[in-house]
Amino acid sequence: MTTQAGECPFHGNSVITHTTADPVRGSGGEEPATVSPDAVDYPVADWVDVAALSTSPYPTYARLRAESPVAWVPQLNKFLVTSYAGCHTVEQDQELFSANVSGATMTRAIGAQPMLRKDDPEHAADRAPVNPVLRPKSIKEVWGPIFERNAETYLQKVAELGPDEADLNRDYAAPVASQNLIDLLGLKDVSVEQVRRWSHDFIAGMGNVLDDQSIWDRCDAATAEADRLLEELIPYYRQNPDASMVSAFANSGLPTANVAANVKLTISGGMNEPQHMVTNMVWALSNHVDQREQVLADPAWWASVFDEAVRWQSPIGMYPRETTRETVLEGVHIPAGAGIGVVVASANRDEGHFGASAAEFDINRTKRPHLAFGSGVHLCAGHWAAKTSIGQIAVPMAYERFPGLRVDQRRSESWDGWVFRGLTSLPVTWN
Ligand code: HEM
Repeated sequence: MTTQAGECPFHGNSVITHTTADPVRGSGGEEPATVSPDAVDYPVADWVDVAALSTSPYPTYARLRAESPVAWVPQLNKFLVTSYAGCHTVEQDQELFSANVSGATMTRAIGAQPMLRKDDPEHAADRAPVNPVLRPKSIKEVWGPIFERNAETYLQKVAELGPDEADLNRDYAAPVASQNLIDLLGLKDVSVEQVRRWSHDFIAGMGNVLDDQSIWDRCDAATAEADRLLEELIPYYRQNPDASMVSAFANSGLPTANVAANVKLTISGGMNEPQHMVTNMVWALSNHVDQREQVLADPAWWASVFDEAVRWQSPIGMYPRETTRETVLEGVHIPAGAGIGVVVASANRDEGHFGASAAEFDINRTKRPHLAFGSGVHLCAGHWAAKTSIGQIAVPMAYERFPGLRVDQRRSESWDGWVFRGLTSLPVTWN
């Protein structure tokens, strides 16, 4: 089939080329059986530079939204969906856009399929046991005091390092997020450093869309260590139940393999993203001193600071789905079995949804729903835990302890990633 000039239903933009190449994952160059030739016509964004995405993804997202918010990106073997409306549509329809993605890097990374790679009813069965642990009341009453204690412990360490040496990521965000998760999961005798390493190695594996063997090696080693721990913990919690997530999973009647996969999923998602939110918030406030003054004058603004920072610099940038049948999304024909990248970091800066100032950090903006925690059945299970532990406790306590807290301009910061994105180093000072 050839694409004829003028028949393009998308944008007629010359940068987007149309193709008939087969986008069905893993099917080589074969024609998808379920797609009629007329339907195989979609924009191709073959200009996307994956390395540039990791350095600075937002210019690419802006161009994709402007030229074609649903586009086949051959380098990624996926249709990237970059508009708010497109991402929201995908998230609301698990029957058409399945989370049970074939060849999923997540299942490969943690050795079995967790809830995030299942559709209902299997997904709901895996998730139900931990919902009560993660409800607002339990987070506030059971876990709030523990999150405060952890923040206090590591603020003391930051103070000991002093305003010329402290790195907010290394010395506060990472250990606080790690210890919070150790407690919430009930992992008992593991170190902050060990869980930090597991989380980062799992995340690297889950984002390993280019199949780098050295990343798989690190990830496999972390999986083996975590599995050994769970072999002891699961029977322990069956005998000694408590309020933790591993206890809830262990006593749910779920098979041990499901429990282990979901605990490893939580180790990755439950640490890396809260860690990134500590540094995101401080970075955003350091670069917007008027808004920093506003929240320091009235702590009621902390909820808005968290919500705006998670929208503006979303720690999870993209996650995958797969079409179960041929469909049309935002005017673009997509075949059955095609890989979809739901680019929530782009949706969260969509001018069509957030207005012309979407790319700016503004805690006073009119509230509109964002997708940083996903939506639909996979809406982040830990969103209350994250909002409370970071937005209400870890970051406000850091400013109480160091009212002058800000990015240290004498030393350099670093950002990395797009599937998962955040500050890997944030030197801070406060005098
Ligand atoms: C700011 C911090 C966090 C962000 C931005 C975040 C983001 C997300 C997103 C976008 C999803 C949906 C992904 C998809 O649909 O494919 C998700 C799911 C999930 N998150 Fe989070 N998360 C955060 C913190 C946490 C924490 C603290 C926990 C655990 C204590 C957690 C546990 C989970 C779990 C278990 C799922 C899977 C839910 C399901 O499949 O039903 N997350 N998260």
